[in-house]
Amino acid sequence: MLFRCQPGYELHLERELRPLGLAMTDNGGGWLQTPDTAADISDLCFAHAALLSPQEITGESVNALAARILDHFLESARAERFETPWPLVFDCAATPDGLGRRAAAVEKTFTALLRKRMSRVARLATPPNRISSFPPSTPQPLPSSPQSFSPFPPRGLFVCFTGFQRAHVARERISHGQRRMADDPLAPSRSYLKIEEAYGILGREPAAGETVADLGAAPGGWSYSAAKRGARVIAVDNGPLKAGALDNPLITHLREDAFRFDPTTSPAGGKAPADWLFCDLVEDPRHVLENIILPWLDRRWCRRYIVNLKFGRTDPIALLKEVRARIPTARVRHLYHDREEFTLVG
Ligand SMILES: C[S@@+](CC[C@H](N)C(=O)[O-])C[C@H]1O[C@@H](n2cnc3c(N)ncnc32)[C@H](O)[C@@H]1O
Repeated sequence: MLFRCQPGYELHLERELRPLGLAMTDNGGGWLQTPDTAADISDLCFAHAALLSPQEITGESVNALAARILDHFLESARAERFETPWPLVFDCAATPDGLGRRAAAVEKTFTALLRKRMSRVARLATPPNRISSFPPSTPQPLPSSPQSFSPFPPRGLFVCFTGFQRAHVARERISHGQRRMADDPLAPSRSYLKIEEAYGILGREPAAGETVADLGAAPGGWSYSAAKRGARVIAVDNGPLKAGALDNPLITHLREDAFRFDPTTSPAGGKAPADWLFCDLVEDPRHVLENIILPWLDRRWCRRYIVNLKFGRTDPIALLKEVRARIPTARVRHLYHDREEFTLVG
């Protein structure tokens, strides 16, 4: 299998895969390869996607690569009927530089060849047939429907370039839901992108009239994101709110310690359960887990949550294991927009 991850996090992913019996056989910027497995790989944290049973295809030129990818596709699809749109995804590793242009050129040639051979099938390829290089060239809008984590991945054609003369081609891919999000000029911080991405992982976002307790809110990216959807937010942080979160009529700013905030007695008009707990504190992750997340869940103070834990000097894989053991229903992802941190949703 070929796993995709954020460049620089290959070894975290490798450690996450090891207990599943998956040993890394090769890796590069933003990808690693393992033998195929029957293990369940649908709920990984550091993987962004996995190409199932990929075939390695090599070629010296754009034309040779496109022709070989087409041969592989035609051969593997011989007994298939294409009646509905199918995903065609050309993708590339983070390095070497310029790989995105190579992949784009091969995709263009491949698509032209496919049109000549099977024009109806080519028309059904999922638009836009664009390169989602890593990082993807186009920020993604929010999915209109909840993310589906079906154990039966859709069949299509998934091509990932790991070198100028080398691509891995698969007919099936499991996606773990990470995606690059579009920024908003009024968003007070880059953290805004994380919460927008996390909604897609959960398959839900705050709605008008819902209540949000945002712990560690400043400068207000997460609060702004919820208020933008019409939710009422209590933003708890000693720091100042900025831009679209400052003086926002839907946001009440409480300069308080998040560890002491009690939504059942808050003078800011909070109530329990809040529809949402947001928590993005720069604090020791075990302290946050032990003294905020677990008590809030135990006391049923929130119906849904999105929590970002910063690993800092903590071993991320040990922390991940602990989070999964203590909150088995949480979905944990290293988001596209996460750095030394991961995000829990539930
Ligand atoms: C990464 S920032 C949050 C960014 C925010 N989610 C956004 O979208 O703009 C972390 C915040 O945690 C706050 N923080 C750290 N410890 C806190 C505590 N005990 N109580 C309240 N806020 C705290 C910091 O003041 C800082 O503003």
